[in-house]
Amino acid sequence: MPSGPTLLPLGNGAAVADAVAARMLLDRRRHPDRPLGLATGRTMEPVYRRLAARVADLPAAEAEVLRRGWCSFNLDAYVGLPPADPRAFAAEMERLLVRPLGLDPRRVRLPDGLAADPEAEARRYAEAVATAGGIGLLLLGLGLNGHVGFNEPPCLATAPCRVVALSATTRRQNAGAFGGDPAAVPARAITLGMAEILAAERILLVVTGAAKATILRRCLREPPGPERPASWLQHHPDVTLIADATALGAADG
Ligand code: GLP
Repeated sequence: MPSGPTLLPLGNGAAVADAVAARMLLDRRRHPDRPLGLATGRTMEPVYRRLAARVADLPAAEAEVLRRGWCSFNLDAYVGLPPADPRAFAAEMERLLVRPLGLDPRRVRLPDGLAADPEAEARRYAEAVATAGGIGLLLLGLGLNGHVGFNEPPCLATAPCRVVALSATTRRQNAGAFGGDPAAVPARAITLGMAEILAAERILLVVTGAAKATILRRCLREPPGPERPASWLQHHPDVTLIADATALGAADG
Protein backbone atom coordinates (compact mmCIF):
# COMPACT_ATOMS: atom_id res chain seq x y z
CA MET A 1 0.00 0.00 0.00
CA PRO A 2 1.31 3.54 -0.71
CA SER A 3 2.85 5.15 2.35
CA GLY A 4 0.42 8.07 2.44
CA PRO A 5 0.68 11.66 1.33
CA THR A 6 3.84 13.68 1.00
CA LEU A 7 3.47 16.58 3.41
CA LEU A 8 4.31 20.18 2.54
CA PRO A 9 3.70 22.15 5.74
CA LEU A 10 3.57 25.92 5.39
CA GLY A 11 3.17 28.77 7.83
CA ASN A 12 -0.11 30.26 6.72
CA GLY A 13 -2.86 30.30 4.12
CA ALA A 14 -1.09 32.82 1.91
CA ALA A 15 1.98 30.58 1.65
CA VAL A 16 -0.27 27.60 0.90
CA ALA A 17 -2.09 29.49 -1.87
CA ASP A 18 1.16 30.57 -3.49
CA ALA A 19 2.69 27.08 -3.32
CA VAL A 20 -0.40 25.51 -4.90
CA ALA A 21 -0.50 28.15 -7.65
CA ALA A 22 3.20 27.56 -8.37
CA ARG A 23 2.63 23.81 -8.63
CA MET A 24 -0.29 24.31 -10.98
CA LEU A 25 1.86 26.37 -13.33
CA LEU A 26 4.71 23.86 -13.14
CA ASP A 27 2.24 21.09 -13.90
CA ARG A 28 0.93 22.96 -16.95
CA ARG A 29 4.48 23.14 -18.29
CA ARG A 30 5.31 19.50 -17.57
CA HIS A 31 1.99 17.95 -18.59
CA PRO A 32 0.34 20.41 -21.00
CA ASP A 33 -1.84 17.69 -22.51
CA ARG A 34 -3.41 16.45 -19.29
CA PRO A 35 -6.59 18.08 -17.93
CA LEU A 36 -6.53 19.72 -14.53
CA GLY A 37 -9.13 18.85 -11.91
CA LEU A 38 -10.33 21.89 -9.98
CA ALA A 39 -12.16 22.54 -6.73
CA THR A 40 -14.11 25.52 -5.49
CA GLY A 41 -14.63 26.89 -1.97
CA ARG A 42 -12.95 29.23 0.45
CA THR A 43 -9.69 27.27 0.52
CA MET A 44 -9.30 27.64 -3.25
CA GLU A 45 -10.18 31.32 -3.62
CA PRO A 46 -6.71 32.57 -2.61
CA VAL A 47 -5.16 29.84 -4.74
CA TYR A 48 -6.83 31.17 -7.90
CA ARG A 49 -5.95 34.75 -6.94
CA ARG A 50 -2.29 33.78 -6.63
CA LEU A 51 -2.50 31.85 -9.87
CA ALA A 52 -3.87 34.93 -11.66
CA ALA A 53 -1.08 37.07 -10.17
CA ARG A 54 1.57 34.57 -11.26
CA VAL A 55 0.12 34.34 -14.77
CA ALA A 56 0.10 38.14 -15.00
CA ASP A 57 3.86 38.03 -14.35
CA LEU A 58 4.57 35.48 -17.09
CA PRO A 59 6.12 36.53 -20.40
CA ALA A 60 3.23 37.16 -22.83
CA ALA A 61 4.12 34.20 -25.07
CA GLU A 62 4.17 31.80 -22.13
CA ALA A 63 0.83 33.06 -20.85
CA GLU A 64 -0.62 32.57 -24.32
CA VAL A 65 0.59 28.96 -24.44
CA LEU A 66 -1.06 28.39 -21.07
CA ARG A 67 -4.35 29.87 -22.30
CA ARG A 68 -4.37 27.98 -25.57
CA GLY A 69 -3.63 24.65 -23.90
CA TRP A 70 -5.95 25.07 -20.91
CA CYS A 71 -8.30 22.20 -20.15
CA SER A 72 -9.90 21.73 -16.73
CA PHE A 73 -12.77 19.86 -15.17
CA ASN A 74 -14.29 20.99 -11.91
CA LEU A 75 -15.19 18.42 -9.33
CA ASP A 76 -18.78 19.36 -8.79
CA ALA A 77 -21.78 21.63 -9.27
CA TYR A 78 -25.03 22.20 -7.41
CA VAL A 79 -28.14 20.77 -9.04
CA GLY A 80 -30.69 23.46 -9.92
CA LEU A 81 -28.49 26.57 -10.08
CA PRO A 82 -28.00 28.24 -13.48
CA PRO A 83 -24.29 28.72 -14.28
CA ALA A 84 -24.70 32.51 -14.17
CA ASP A 85 -26.16 32.43 -10.65
CA PRO A 86 -23.41 34.07 -8.56
CA ARG A 87 -23.65 31.19 -6.07
CA ALA A 88 -23.02 28.56 -8.75
CA PHE A 89 -19.54 27.09 -8.99
CA ALA A 90 -19.54 27.98 -12.71
CA ALA A 91 -19.92 31.65 -11.78
CA GLU A 92 -17.16 31.28 -9.17
CA MET A 93 -14.80 29.85 -11.79
CA GLU A 94 -15.75 32.60 -14.23
CA ARG A 95 -14.95 35.23 -11.60
CA LEU A 96 -11.77 33.68 -10.17
CA LEU A 97 -10.26 31.90 -13.14
CA VAL A 98 -11.78 32.46 -16.59
CA ARG A 99 -11.80 36.27 -16.51
CA PRO A 100 -8.54 36.94 -14.62
CA LEU A 101 -6.58 34.46 -16.75
CA GLY A 102 -8.36 35.35 -19.99
CA LEU A 103 -9.37 31.72 -20.62
CA ASP A 104 -11.80 30.41 -23.19
CA PRO A 105 -14.78 29.46 -20.95
CA ARG A 106 -15.33 26.30 -23.02
CA ARG A 107 -12.00 25.05 -21.69
CA VAL A 108 -13.14 25.33 -18.05
CA ARG A 109 -15.72 22.61 -17.69
CA LEU A 110 -18.19 21.83 -14.92
CA PRO A 111 -21.18 19.53 -14.66
CA ASP A 112 -24.39 21.19 -15.88
CA GLY A 113 -26.45 21.76 -12.76
CA LEU A 114 -29.47 22.63 -14.87
CA ALA A 115 -29.52 19.42 -16.93
CA ALA A 116 -33.04 18.02 -17.23
CA ASP A 117 -31.72 14.58 -16.23
CA PRO A 118 -28.94 15.11 -13.65
CA GLU A 119 -28.04 11.39 -13.47
CA ALA A 120 -27.53 11.32 -17.25
CA GLU A 121 -25.49 14.53 -16.95
CA ALA A 122 -23.26 12.87 -14.34
CA ARG A 123 -22.62 9.97 -16.75
CA ARG A 124 -21.96 12.39 -19.61
CA TYR A 125 -19.52 14.39 -17.48
CA ALA A 126 -17.60 11.27 -16.43
CA GLU A 127 -17.33 10.30 -20.09
CA ALA A 128 -16.06 13.76 -21.00
CA VAL A 129 -13.32 13.43 -18.36
CA ALA A 130 -12.39 9.98 -19.68
CA THR A 131 -12.42 11.16 -23.31
CA ALA A 132 -10.04 13.98 -22.37
CA GLY A 133 -7.64 11.34 -21.01
CA GLY A 134 -8.55 11.47 -17.31
CA ILE A 135 -7.41 14.05 -14.78
CA GLY A 136 -3.67 14.72 -14.54
CA LEU A 137 -3.25 17.06 -11.55
CA LEU A 138 -6.27 17.28 -9.25
CA LEU A 139 -6.80 19.97 -6.62
CA LEU A 140 -8.84 18.83 -3.64
CA GLY A 141 -10.18 20.70 -0.64
CA LEU A 142 -11.49 18.94 2.45
CA GLY A 143 -15.02 19.11 3.81
CA LEU A 144 -15.62 19.28 7.55
CA ASN A 145 -17.14 15.80 7.41
CA GLY A 146 -14.21 14.41 5.39
CA HIS A 147 -15.82 14.82 1.97
CA VAL A 148 -13.80 15.52 -1.16
CA GLY A 149 -15.66 16.99 -4.11
CA PHE A 150 -19.17 16.35 -2.85
CA ASN A 151 -18.55 12.71 -1.95
CA GLU A 152 -20.48 12.71 1.29
CA PRO A 153 -19.99 9.98 3.87
CA PRO A 154 -20.63 7.09 3.70
CA CYS A 155 -18.89 6.73 0.36
CA LEU A 156 -17.05 3.79 -1.15
CA ALA A 157 -13.72 4.21 -2.96
CA THR A 158 -15.43 2.91 -6.10
CA ALA A 159 -18.27 5.48 -6.13
CA PRO A 160 -18.57 6.95 -9.66
CA CYS A 161 -19.56 10.41 -10.85
CA ARG A 162 -23.18 10.80 -9.76
CA VAL A 163 -25.90 12.87 -8.16
CA VAL A 164 -25.56 13.11 -4.38
CA ALA A 165 -27.75 14.43 -1.58
CA LEU A 166 -25.81 17.01 0.41
CA SER A 167 -25.51 16.41 4.15
CA ALA A 168 -26.67 18.86 6.81
CA THR A 169 -23.00 19.44 7.73
CA THR A 170 -22.11 20.41 4.16
CA ARG A 171 -25.15 22.63 3.71
CA ARG A 172 -24.17 24.43 6.92
CA GLN A 173 -20.53 24.65 5.80
CA ASN A 174 -21.53 26.21 2.48
CA ALA A 175 -24.40 28.41 3.74
CA GLY A 176 -22.22 31.55 3.66
CA ALA A 177 -22.84 31.97 -0.07
CA PHE A 178 -26.58 31.56 0.51
CA GLY A 179 -27.16 34.35 2.99
CA GLY A 180 -26.16 32.12 5.89
CA ASP A 181 -29.22 29.90 5.48
CA PRO A 182 -28.38 26.16 5.18
CA ALA A 183 -31.90 25.48 3.87
CA ALA A 184 -31.18 27.77 0.91
CA VAL A 185 -28.19 25.60 -0.13
CA PRO A 186 -29.27 23.23 -2.92
CA ALA A 187 -30.12 19.77 -1.61
CA ARG A 188 -28.30 17.94 -4.40
CA ALA A 189 -25.12 18.17 -6.43
CA ILE A 190 -23.33 16.36 -9.24
CA THR A 191 -19.85 15.30 -8.21
CA LEU A 192 -16.96 13.39 -9.68
CA GLY A 193 -16.86 10.21 -7.61
CA MET A 194 -14.06 8.72 -5.53
CA ALA A 195 -13.43 6.49 -8.58
CA GLU A 196 -12.51 9.43 -10.84
CA ILE A 197 -10.70 11.20 -7.99
CA LEU A 198 -8.53 8.18 -7.20
CA ALA A 199 -7.86 7.74 -10.94
CA ALA A 200 -6.21 11.19 -11.13
CA GLU A 201 -2.48 10.90 -11.69
CA ARG A 202 -1.41 13.44 -9.10
CA ILE A 203 -3.42 14.94 -6.26
CA LEU A 204 -2.84 18.12 -4.27
CA LEU A 205 -4.90 18.06 -1.09
CA VAL A 206 -5.11 21.64 0.14
CA VAL A 207 -6.17 22.25 3.73
CA THR A 208 -6.09 25.47 5.73
CA GLY A 209 -7.49 26.64 9.06
CA ALA A 210 -7.92 25.20 12.53
CA ALA A 211 -11.49 24.08 11.84
CA LYS A 212 -10.12 21.34 9.55
CA ALA A 213 -7.42 20.06 11.94
CA THR A 214 -9.41 17.26 13.56
CA ILE A 215 -10.97 15.87 10.38
CA LEU A 216 -7.60 16.12 8.60
CA ARG A 217 -5.88 14.15 11.35
CA ARG A 218 -8.56 11.46 11.24
CA CYS A 219 -8.42 11.18 7.44
CA LEU A 220 -4.64 10.80 7.57
CA ARG A 221 -4.25 8.59 10.60
CA GLU A 222 -7.25 6.32 10.87
CA PRO A 223 -7.74 3.31 8.61
CA PRO A 224 -9.43 4.29 5.32
CA GLY A 225 -13.17 3.79 5.28
CA PRO A 226 -16.48 5.06 3.88
CA GLU A 227 -17.21 7.32 6.86
CA ARG A 228 -14.39 9.67 5.86
CA PRO A 229 -14.17 9.71 2.07
CA ALA A 230 -10.86 11.66 2.06
CA SER A 231 -9.28 8.76 3.94
CA TRP A 232 -9.38 6.75 0.66
CA LEU A 233 -6.59 9.06 -0.52
CA GLN A 234 -4.27 6.94 1.64
CA HIS A 235 -4.55 4.38 -1.19
CA HIS A 236 -3.38 6.81 -3.87
CA PRO A 237 0.31 6.68 -4.86
CA ASP A 238 0.84 10.40 -5.51
CA VAL A 239 -0.86 12.71 -3.03
CA THR A 240 0.79 15.87 -1.71
CA LEU A 241 -0.85 17.49 1.28
CA ILE A 242 -0.23 21.24 1.32
CA ALA A 243 -1.49 22.61 4.59
CA ASP A 244 -0.96 25.52 6.94
CA ALA A 245 0.19 25.30 10.55
CA THR A 246 -3.30 25.61 12.01
CA ALA A 247 -4.73 22.77 9.91
CA LEU A 248 -1.76 20.63 10.87
CA GLY A 249 -2.03 21.50 14.55
CA ALA A 250 -3.91 18.37 15.51
CA ALA A 251 -2.42 16.28 12.69
CA ASP A 252 1.02 16.28 14.29
CA GLY A 253 -0.08 14.75 17.55
C1 GLP B 1 -17.05 21.98 -0.70
C2 GLP B 1 -16.69 21.54 -2.11
C3 GLP B 1 -15.30 20.99 -2.15
C4 GLP B 1 -14.45 21.88 -1.27
C5 GLP B 1 -14.79 21.60 0.17
C6 GLP B 1 -14.10 22.52 1.15
O1 GLP B 1 -18.33 21.74 -0.31
N1 GLP B 1 -17.59 20.68 -2.80
O2 GLP B 1 -14.83 20.90 -3.47
O3 GLP B 1 -13.11 21.63 -1.50
O4 GLP B 1 -16.18 21.58 0.34
O5 GLP B 1 -14.66 23.80 1.10
P1 GLP B 1 -13.98 25.07 1.77
O6 GLP B 1 -12.69 25.25 1.08
O7 GLP B 1 -14.93 26.19 1.50
O8 GLP B 1 -13.81 24.77 3.21
